[in-house]
Amino acid sequence: MVISSNSCLSFIGLLLCLWSRTASSLNLEDPNVCSHWESYSVTVQESYPHPFDQIYYTSCTDILNWFKCTRHRISYRTAYRHGEKTMYRRKSQCCPGFYESREMCVPHCADKCVHGRCIAPNTCQCEPGWGGTNCSSACDGDHWGPHCSSRCQCKNGALCNPITGACHCAAGFRGWRCEDRCEQGTYGNDCRQRCQCQNGATCDHVTGECRCPPGYTGAFCEDLCPPGKHGPQCERRCPCQNGGTCHHVTGECSCPPGWLAEGDYILKCTKGPHWKT
Ligand SMILES: *[C@@H]1O[C@H](CO)[C@@H](O)[C@H](O)[C@H]1NC(C)=O
Repeated sequence: MVISSNSCLSFIGLLLCLWSRTASSLNLEDPNVCSHWESYSVTVQESYPHPFDQIYYTSCTDILNWFKCTRHRISYRTAYRHGEKTMYRRKSQCCPGFYESREMCVPHCADKCVHGRCIAPNTCQCEPGWGGTNCSSACDGDHWGPHCSSRCQCKNGALCNPITGACHCAAGFRGWRCEDRCEQGTYGNDCRQRCQCQNGATCDHVTGECRCPPGYTGAFCEDLCPPGKHGPQCERRCPCQNGGTCHHVTGECSCPPGWLAEGDYILKCTKGPHWKT
């Protein structure tokens, strides 16, 4: 039933009018609903005493009228008329910055919130991983979370998950914040590779490259130093003479039968003059 304000004629109509004005679909408890009182006029039917000329007869001495005389008096009867009545009604609408949607006042953001939602007039709340006033810019590598407001805690060149902040370690590192190197014997992405180094060589935590101990060589340190060389990186020359062979680590000479080792630490093979037991 649709009732316009100028059809509020009868008392029943007036009640319906008031009802239709106050029964707004907006919830007045909603803090985003603004209301004020406004006046309006309605036409009502009202009763009033309407005067009229009442004629009646009395007996009198008037012989010509058969002793009956006509008299007048003002009398009143109830009549009805249209009157104007000023009414007040509460007018509700969404507060500035809000608009009505499904009987609710929701905030309006002039810029669409691209990866987020509008939580207050022209204010976007961004999803984790997104920032900027309209949530259209992805977090840079050093930030994460809603509005990219959290700083990445990852170490050693690790990348941060833009949503959770979890660290994606660079090759050779491990741990919650990638603060630790791979355990000895492992290397590479997520420390999943096994080192191939032999003879007690250490392995580079990133590349797996072997660092040989003194006396060893080869990609996996699987070889002894070549003849004539010894020591770290097999860079030292052997001092042994006269067919002596050199220890690949210490350079100590082993002399052939009939020859003697000479000297304190690095030795060479000589014959006479000092024969000792
Ligand atoms: C979001 O903001 C950026 C820069 O502030 C602008 O270039 C872009 O057009 C905006 N996007 C929308 C959908 O409003």
